[in-house]
Amino acid sequence: MADTVFVLNGPNLNLLGLREPEIYGHDTLDDIAGRLEDQARTLGLVIDMRQSNHEGHLVDWLHEANAAGARAVLLNAGAFTHTSLALYDAIKAITVPVIEVHLSNPHRREEFRHRSFVGQAAKGTIAGFGALSYALALDAAAKL
Ligand code: DQA
Repeated sequence: MADTVFVLNGPNLNLLGLREPEIYGHDTLDDIAGRLEDQARTLGLVIDMRQSNHEGHLVDWLHEANAAGARAVLLNAGAFTHTSLALYDAIKAITVPVIEVHLSNPHRREEFRHRSFVGQAAKGTIAGFGALSYALALDAAAKL
């Protein structure tokens, strides 16, 4: 599984493409997954893309990625980014590198988005490039 990169997406990201497109763009999560799969192939990697609106699923999947010996996890935890001590603890508890990903740049947005529990535990953060944030993060994962 060292060639596998888990791409974990949190709440409301199932609505990507419909949800506030002026902020998040018109690509759906499936569009992003399709492009990441192509990119992963050229990098000799495989992606395992998932989405859940439930915090505990994200915690379980972080544990699973670690147990499976994944290369890395790309994590867009959505709003849980700014609230979840459980995700902070999960990232701290595992050794697989976790890259925080956001479509938007939370620092340019409301004050409540400026604190990131995920970012305080993650290896690094890529944010603000729309769907390209995922591609940049996958490139980074390939180089780890
Ligand atoms: C987001 C940013 C978060 O603040 C927000 O709650 C999201 C999406 C992003 O990708 O820009 O749901 O993670």
